[in-house]
Amino acid sequence: MSSSADKRRVTVGVSGGIAAYKAAELVRELQQHGVDVRVIMTRAAQEFIQPLTFSSLTGHKVITAMWGEDGQPATGLDDQNQIEHISEAQWPDAIVIAPATAHVLAKMAHGLADDFLSTMLLATTAPVIVAPAMNVNMWNHPATRANLELLQTRGVTIVPPDSGYLACGMTGSGRLADVQTIAQAVLSVLSQPVHPDLAGETILVTAGGTREAIDPVRFLGNRSSGKMGYALAEAARQRGAEVILVSAPTSLTPPERCAFVPVTSAEEMRAAVMEHLPAATVVVGAAAVADFRMPAIAPEKLRREGSLHLDLEPTEDILRTVVEARSMADAARPCTLVVAFAAETGSSISRARQKLLAKGADAIVLNDVSQPGIGFDSDRNAATFITRDHEIDIPEMPKREMADRILDQVVALRAATSTEQPSPSRAGHDAG
Ligand code: PMT
Repeated sequence: MSSSADKRRVTVGVSGGIAAYKAAELVRELQQHGVDVRVIMTRAAQEFIQPLTFSSLTGHKVITAMWGEDGQPATGLDDQNQIEHISEAQWPDAIVIAPATAHVLAKMAHGLADDFLSTMLLATTAPVIVAPAMNVNMWNHPATRANLELLQTRGVTIVPPDSGYLACGMTGSGRLADVQTIAQAVLSVLSQPVHPDLAGETILVTAGGTREAIDPVRFLGNRSSGKMGYALAEAARQRGAEVILVSAPTSLTPPERCAFVPVTSAEEMRAAVMEHLPAATVVVGAAAVADFRMPAIAPEKLRREGSLHLDLEPTEDILRTVVEARSMADAARPCTLVVAFAAETGSSISRARQKLLAKGADAIVLNDVSQPGIGFDSDRNAATFITRDHEIDIPEMPKREMADRILDQVVALRAATSTEQPSPSRAGHDAG
């Protein structure tokens, strides 16, 4: 079963109409498709249905007001002391307003921000779906039609209302669309790449910490959880890339729609990377690969008889092998970009730059793994993205966001190199 961190996130905005009670069914329907749902209600919506219904269904606090009218402290800050309408705007992968009244549609179209829902809608970059429900004359009114057209041109998905007998006693269009239809529209938006700026790329990501067997029960390992690599794979997939995730053992669920290649040792990772390299246009080495291994694995469990000395041999440098292979690749195809990671204790740009040159990579992401709360096995990271001619600091943030920031730099690198072919100096390595 996937954890809540793996789930797609949807905020349901409920505005004031008789169909507000159907939003509870929508929440359940989305949850049945594995979606983590939060609810924001307008003041008018609370005349039709209680926030308690939604907090019981979702397990999340239901936001009902901007400034504490609902018993929250009147600070506008959330539990993490962040500005709540901004943090809520960044949380979802999609927002659906159901039912959406004529009033809410008008506010969205004209950028009004006079309550939590409308303010959050202005602050979000997530895709928005609206399911209008209203009286037939309000639905047909030129103002409503113009507002909907405006919203449509801005990329808002409209789930049109059904026709039939309306709560106001009239018959015609205006009845909230079927809950399953609204849920399908949301799921379809969720399955589309958010920013398809990596469409056409095939990104091979290595993740996790490799294990080098000592004997049948012991291995040499490291503290990598795979979170950074999996976040990169998920982000790349959502931006339209094909993704091959070569993963050492982790406890994580692989992101959806990725080709998943599980491996254990550095040698297995090298073999898998080289097997899939011909398809890859970008290789990102987020894995913590063992630098040493046993020349031969003891066939039986080693006994505790005095001290034990292990003679280790170096493993092959996977990324350097990738860089060497790309220099021999078909000159007609775009150069495979290679992005390494450097796990350092201390923020040593010069050591990371040496690694960049030694591997012949295009960029290296330096993360200081001695800092508490970031790096190994944490949900957050801070890094410096280093190329041969520049450095960009990426401040501390969740790994999923950092993945997007790193991929932004990959997009920029691709733009800079798309006209170049690999030159001997780029393709080769300068040291080590
Ligand atoms: O997995 P998490 O818990 O989320 O933690 C993320 C991370 C800290 C592991 C990740 O952000 C990171 O820094 N990964 C690289 C760790 C590492 O092994 O660094 P390194 O300096 O030893 O290696 C430099 C680069 O060479 C890396 O891209 C590595 O994948 C690659 N390498 C290393 C050894 C080897 N034999 N072959 C390689 O290709």
